Amino acid sequence: MTRMLRRALPLTSLLLSLAAISPAQTPLPVEAWGKVDGKDVSLYTLKNSAGMEVRITNYGGTITYISVPDRGRKFGDVVLGFDTLEGYTSKTNTSYFGATIGRYANRLAKGTFTLDGHVYHIPTNESGNTLHGGTKGFDKVVWDAKDVSKPGAPALELHYLSPDGEQGFPGNLNVTVIFTVTAKNEVRIEYRAKTDKDTVLNLTNHSYFNLSGPGSGDILDDKVMIAADRFTPVDKTLIPLGTSIPLARTPFDFRKLTVVGARIKEDNEQLKIANGYDQNFVLTQPGALTAVRAKVVDPKSGRVLEVFTDQPGIQFYTGNFLNGANHGVGGAYNFRTAICLETQHYPDSPNQPKFPSSELKPGGEFRHTTIYRFATE
Ligand code: GLA
Repeated sequence: MTRMLRRALPLTSLLLSLAAISPAQTPLPVEAWGKVDGKDVSLYTLKNSAGMEVRITNYGGTITYISVPDRGRKFGDVVLGFDTLEGYTSKTNTSYFGATIGRYANRLAKGTFTLDGHVYHIPTNESGNTLHGGTKGFDKVVWDAKDVSKPGAPALELHYLSPDGEQGFPGNLNVTVIFTVTAKNEVRIEYRAKTDKDTVLNLTNHSYFNLSGPGSGDILDDKVMIAADRFTPVDKTLIPLGTSIPLARTPFDFRKLTVVGARIKEDNEQLKIANGYDQNFVLTQPGALTAVRAKVVDPKSGRVLEVFTDQPGIQFYTGNFLNGANHGVGGAYNFRTAICLETQHYPDSPNQPKFPSSELKPGGEFRHTTIYRFATE
């Protein structure tokens, strides 16, 4: 060994060991997507070492793309979405594809609720009720974005300060949502929020899953499991009646993996009201993130989706409002061509004394974690 090489070696090994302690983290690839409300909108790509790829835009905190392998190891997108910002901002998009929903996910009866003796009014946008936070909810605002990736765990943090009175809701609300793609082929979504006035809050993600690919046909042959013994029935405008009823011996029993289309046309009042499934399922053992709360198995592709959440409910929705009006990636988004599993507080909780409270007070912190894990069989 030459003298020069001998001298260079200790330095090289020092650099190598430093690299082992803190391996350089490649920044998330980011693409400029346009502007909304004068703010820059970008598209971020989160890719894990197994090749799973997730794209998220800070417009609406929206997941636009999730690519995972099928049983033949072929990667493909499994969510409905658009490949341009205009697809999302277009007037025909009334479906909340992939978006972060707030301040109150799902419905508030007659767009109103009472808190601490004050009556609050939220803009109504569906049959005299408020759906998904009003006319301009969290799905339509531009969030601040920060790359918070760690080695082996690409991650994007979104932040939004919703001012006191926005859409009629009380309190300045500081909301953070962190999306992480893990090495186990999971999208982990963590929500945190703080307020400076008593308020109500219900945050979820509105991804539409079609495990054979967006635009590939209906989801009626998929099998679904939901770890719930009860669900909350609704009136004709999809507002909960305020009760929960056992789902045993009804077409709502998904305690065991069951084909979605097997009972969807049964003569059942709740199925008729929603034109399919669109009800909140009351999860058994709420709070535990360790057990699978819901599962979808797609016999065609062999892809499997498992849902973990610490929230008390899951809105199981079979895309009954999809009518082909939206042409996204893969083609027209027709009737029942996707499944949504929206992990959340029960709809209309602020008006339903028997439902778990969705109130948040100053000094407290709203926390919600949901994991969508992908596998094959
Ligand atoms: C939720 C609701 C549905 C529908 C969709 C958005 O899943 O429960 O009724 O409004 O959002 O189209």
